[in-house]
Parts: sequence; C-alpha cells; structure tokens
Amino acid sequence: MHPEKRPLHRRHFLQATLATGAGLLILPRTSLFGAARPGNKLNLALIGAAGRARAHYLGLASENVVAICDVDENNLAEARAKFPAAKTYADWRKCLEQKDLEAVLCCTPDHHHALIAIAAMNRGLHVYMEKPIALTVEEARLVRATYLKNKTKLATQAGTQRHANPNFARVREIIRDGAIGELRNVFVWGNRQLPKPGYYPSAGPAPAFLNWDLWLGPSREHPFNPGYFENFKKKPNGNCLQWNMFWDFGCGQVGDMGAHTMDLAWNAIDAGLPTAIEARGDPFNPDVTPVKMEAHFDHPANSWRPAIRVSWYQGGAMPASPKPFIDLNKIDHGVMFKGTKGHLVADFASRLLLPFGDTADLTYYKPRAQEPVTPPIGDFQQEWFNACKGSLKTCCNFDYNGTMTEQMALGLVAYRAGKKLDYDGATGRITNDSAANALLRREYRAGWSLNAANLAANL
Ligand SMILES: NC(=O)c1ccc[n+]([C@@H]2O[C@H](COP(=O)([O-])OP(=O)(O)OC[C@H]3O[C@@H](n4cnc5c(N)ncnc54)[C@H](O)[C@@H]3O)[C@@H](O)[C@H]2O)c1
Repeated sequence: MHPEKRPLHRRHFLQATLATGAGLLILPRTSLFGAARPGNKLNLALIGAAGRARAHYLGLASENVVAICDVDENNLAEARAKFPAAKTYADWRKCLEQKDLEAVLCCTPDHHHALIAIAAMNRGLHVYMEKPIALTVEEARLVRATYLKNKTKLATQAGTQRHANPNFARVREIIRDGAIGELRNVFVWGNRQLPKPGYYPSAGPAPAFLNWDLWLGPSREHPFNPGYFENFKKKPNGNCLQWNMFWDFGCGQVGDMGAHTMDLAWNAIDAGLPTAIEARGDPFNPDVTPVKMEAHFDHPANSWRPAIRVSWYQGGAMPASPKPFIDLNKIDHGVMFKGTKGHLVADFASRLLLPFGDTADLTYYKPRAQEPVTPPIGDFQQEWFNACKGSLKTCCNFDYNGTMTEQMALGLVAYRAGKKLDYDGATGRITNDSAANALLRREYRAGWSLNAANLAANL
C-alpha cells in the first residue's frame, strides 16, 4: 500500500503533533503497539556484522541483538564489542536456528540475500534485508511469495532507506496530481562505473580469520583472492563495490544504485510486472555484469494512467535531455518522468518540474492541500522495528520491492538473451523464447538451495 493511502498510525500522529508544536506528548515506548515483550525490545540476529552493518549499529543498540553472524572473525569481534550479550556464528544457517530470535537484519553480500530471507521468513522471523533482496527473477519471486504467504504476521523491509526521504512522496504526489499530464515514459539512470576484468585467479589460501567457503556460500567455487575486498589487510570498510559486478556475487548496477534509483520511480507509478523487456549493452562477459547497459520495460495501463514504458540506463547510457540547457549527466542517479504536458526530473532529494511551453499553463494542475499530503515515514529502520512489534507496516516490504527487484533482474535476462522478450508475470515465464527461461535462475553449489527445508538438512 502506498504511504499516502496509509491510515495515519500513532507514530505519524505523534510526529505530526510534535511537528506542529501542538503539544509535547511523550508516550512510553511499550504503549506504541502493545507488544508484550520485556522493555518492548526485539530479539534480533545481525547477519553480516561489519561494512554496511555499521550504519545499523546505532538503531540496533535500542533493541536486543542476541545473535551475530559473520564469516570474518575480525568483523565478528567488532560487532561483538557493540553487542556483548550476543551469541556468535560463522554460518547463518546455524544462526537462524537460535531459539529466541524474532527478527533478522541482514547485511551480507548479495548472493546470500534471497536464501537468508526465505529461510528466515519460513522460520517465522521478521526480516530487514539490505538491497538487493535477490539476484535473479526466480529468487525475487520466491522471496516475494514467501512474504505474501506470511504478511499477516511478518514485517519485511528492503534496505532502500532513501525511500524515507520526503522527496519520494512529493514526486509521487506531483505525478498523481497530474502536473505533467498523462504519464507516458519513465527514465531512470545511474552513472556508477566499476569495470572488472573477470574472476580473479587464486591468491593462495584465505587468511585464517576468514571462512572463504562460507563467504562463497551458495555460489560456484572460486579461489580466494583479496581483490574481492577493499584494503583487505587493513580494516575493510564495506566491500560491496569490490564484488557486486561479478555474476556469482551480485547483479551489477541493477542491484547496487539501481535498487535505490528505480525505487524513486517505482514509488510513483503503481506498476506490476512488465509484459515485455528489451535491453542492450556491453558485449556479454560470462564473469562480469555489464558496465554500460540500458533496459526498457513495457507496463500495461492501470486505473489512473495509460500503458507506460519504464527505462533503466547505467554506466554511461543516458536518456535524451528534455532541453539543451538541462544536462542530465550532472545528475549521478536520477529519474525523469515524461507526460503529455511536461517533464519531471528528480534526484533523491530534489525535483524540477518542466511544463511543455504555452499549452502547459499549469492551470490544470491543483497541488493537493495540506491534509492529504503523504505523512512522513520518519526513520526508515525504526519503521521496521515498529512493524515487527505490531504495526506490520513498512514502506519497502518484499511485495513492493519484490516486483521492482524482479523487473530489474528481467533487464539483465533480456540483455543476455539479446532480443525483446515477452513476459507473463502471473507464471513468471518468458513466452516467446523458451530457452531464455533458463536465464531466470542461477545454479547453487551442492548443499545450498532456495528451499529452506533442504538447507536445514545440510547443516
Ligand atoms: N542501503 C545502502 O545504502 C547500502 C550501502 C552499502 C551497502 N549496502 C548493501 O549491504 C550489503 C553489504 O555490503 P558491504 O559493503 O557491507 O559488504 P561487505 O563485503 O563489506 O560485507 C558485509 C559483512 O558481511 C560479512 N559477510 C560476508 N559473507 C558473509 C556470510 N556468508 N555470512 C555472514 N556474514 C558475511 C562480511 O565479513 C562483512 O562483515 C550489500 O548487500 C550491499 O548492497 C547497502
């Protein structure tokens, strides 16, 4: 459900009250959603303990971190110093077996995400999963389906925290309120370029503090090489840009900045799965995802707009600028909506409305009154904590983010297929090229599976 359609729940009411200065009403935390646990704290596992996880430490400090899992003993020790009561693990499959867990916050590399999300939800645990929540179409569909099966009892949040930026809601409102007329096209781009030559050769055995076999987890066997890590000998500070271009560990810019930037568009267009996809880019490299690529997705009409085409550009591919005086290249990660009466260009924090000449005098556009303006989301991580404790409401749950992740993964499938693909979102099948269906999934190493029951059997 979109934020603007959400009922104003108690936290928003509280924020709104404070924002208007109407009163300094402070409710005890336990009264927010009536949870019965001591101190109203969640029992959480942190899986993937350093790197991006450091951005979560502060919020986690107000909850009970009862388990920490990391394949790197140094990173485990760093998080243990923050959360000394937690039990520690190297293998997330064992960590998820801990009996007192209620929720999991996961910051591992991307190739574990779908497996962890599915296993955790099947164990009845709430999940916050760093983006992207999945690497392939099959993974995205199964993560979403598992959430939908459990959505009346589990809270999920994909780690696209920019979504809490009020600009996301303002962009949606401007589009929905008709400022650019009828929506026709959506262009989304990111300029990050991380060329990699191919998988690295063996650099000897992994150091004793790193469990390389568990780092690889479900992915194919590769020899250890410090190239997958930033400043490996020093304390690494988030390695995702070192490994996310490799097919076995990530999905390139589609899952990196694409997860954030497409979210800015996705929030505004109420799109389901596309009916057709075409893409082109760098020559195919079996080791590494493309740096330069563009993908185009056809979406049918919905109740408030006609059929639209959504386009994703990365690594130097760019949509045409609407006017010579607007240089879209100066926006590193941006979105442009084109309607019958103008354009809206936006980045994560600002927006530019560009009506078409004389015909667009804007008298047709009535900005909404204060009352129906989407209430602020507030702290993104806190929204998930509150959801776990009873509200179940998050802005980036695995339904909303799942279809977006599936769409982005389909872009890479069309790129690899090298032709326009027709897609049936109900069955998750490509209907005009049966061979291309093999590209919807990836192989897992023996002992690893998307099926949580199989995972447990291999412990
Ligand atoms: N939301 C954001 O803005 C944002 C920003 C940066 C990274 N991320 C995401 O966060 C995730 C982690 O990125 P990072 O840069 O911290 O990566 P990283 O390679 O630094 O790994 C993070 C941590 O996970 C640990 N780890 C690796 N394999 C593990 C496994 N199998 N089990 C348990 N722990 C394991 C590492 O030792 C490390 O402590 C990625 O999915 C990335 O896309 C999100």
